[in-house]
Amino acid sequence: MKYLIETIGCQMNVCESDALSNMLSNYGMLQVHNIVDADVIILNTCSVRAQAEQKAFSYIGRVEELKKQKPNVKIIVIGCMAERLGIKIRKRFKSVDLVIGSKNINNFALKIVNLCNLAKIDNNILSKKSTEVGRCITIIRGCNNFCSYCVVPFVRGQEVSLDNKIIISECEEMVKSGAKEIMLLGQNVNSYKHGTVDFVSLVRDICKIDGLERLRFMTNHPKNLSDDLINLIATEKKVCHHVHLPMQSGSNKVLKEMNRNYTYEYYLALINKLRSKIADISITTDIIVGFPGETEKDFNNTLKALKDIFFDGLYVFRYSSRPNTRASRMVDDVPLEEKKRRHSIILNESNKISSEIVLSMVGKTFEVLVENFKSNILEGRTGGGRKVFIKSTSKDYVGKVFNVHISESKINSLFGNIV
Ligand code: 5AD
Ligand code: SF4
Repeated sequence: MKYLIETIGCQMNVCESDALSNMLSNYGMLQVHNIVDADVIILNTCSVRAQAEQKAFSYIGRVEELKKQKPNVKIIVIGCMAERLGIKIRKRFKSVDLVIGSKNINNFALKIVNLCNLAKIDNNILSKKSTEVGRCITIIRGCNNFCSYCVVPFVRGQEVSLDNKIIISECEEMVKSGAKEIMLLGQNVNSYKHGTVDFVSLVRDICKIDGLERLRFMTNHPKNLSDDLINLIATEKKVCHHVHLPMQSGSNKVLKEMNRNYTYEYYLALINKLRSKIADISITTDIIVGFPGETEKDFNNTLKALKDIFFDGLYVFRYSSRPNTRASRMVDDVPLEEKKRRHSIILNESNKISSEIVLSMVGKTFEVLVENFKSNILEGRTGGGRKVFIKSTSKDYVGKVFNVHISESKINSLFGNIV
């Protein structure tokens, strides 16, 4: 039986879709990438922003049309939106066969297998182990932070840290099957705690795995980024020099309304501390524009913060009201056109900063892990997460780390040669 999995949303969803694919392949299911080849269509949804939900609705609508021509196709909707709007989805889309919310993540594969009447097949025979160089694993689910705009604590529930022994054995398996880099995922990885094992000791233990070259993690909440973790990033060779540290806003008034529990001054001090201890640290962030009550002055504070901090990269989102959140009871008073304007100003500024940063990397040498080989080009990443392209005729370099001299930059990408 062939299945297609379409993923909307964050890196955690991408990771969970990959994990689900691995489980399904243990039951003999084969992943396809063209919708017309699929017997089962799985949509992994996201609820974080209204736009992501609209995208899911229109995708389900298109798949329903397809099912009119191929009535045996099964449609399955999973993830955050399935959790939040399961009943509505079933009512509106009569031909959806199964809806599984994110709180039922552990039963995904079993429910799908039951729906499709599949028998479990011996792992060793049909197991499709991913052979990618970079893999990811969720270590903590849910969130306890209740930022006032965010629906995650409602749809994903309270924080639950996964068993460290299971995480380590999964990581060992990944490395055995070719992984060189692992990304640990969670809404707030710093809060990881399983028994006496906290995030820093988990990272230390994973770094002991022989054959693992690099470890990354995201997301870090600024209020929880401890000195111990900063010291670990500075001293543990395998931990990449990159933190994704969502700032959300540069205005103290807005940060307070967002319930972020820090001020801009605190955030800036944290960045300075990171940079003083780890000179080449790459710092990326998330920004929301048009939060209720965000004035031009508040927005200018955010813009100034970008210029001052000089982020290596960022995601910027237009605020959208999410049900049940505290902000949904505030007046969404920044007009859509104004949100769009602020969004594009931030994006332009960020692109300008990015091109300055990549330009400053030309002529220097960086450690690059090669992840892919396509049309005589090796594709890799620096520890900071920048993409580097290297001309080559051999795919044998994939999975290895090289010193690469950067000869050229284009917009956001770097080109170089192995030295
Ligand atoms: N509107 C816009 N952006 C949001 N995010 C979370 N909730 C909302 C919302 N209601 C953004 C935040 C978060 C990222 C994953 O999504 O910036 O860090
Ligand atoms: Fe949402 Fe805040 Fe939790 Fe991130 S930390 S998932 S923004 S509530």
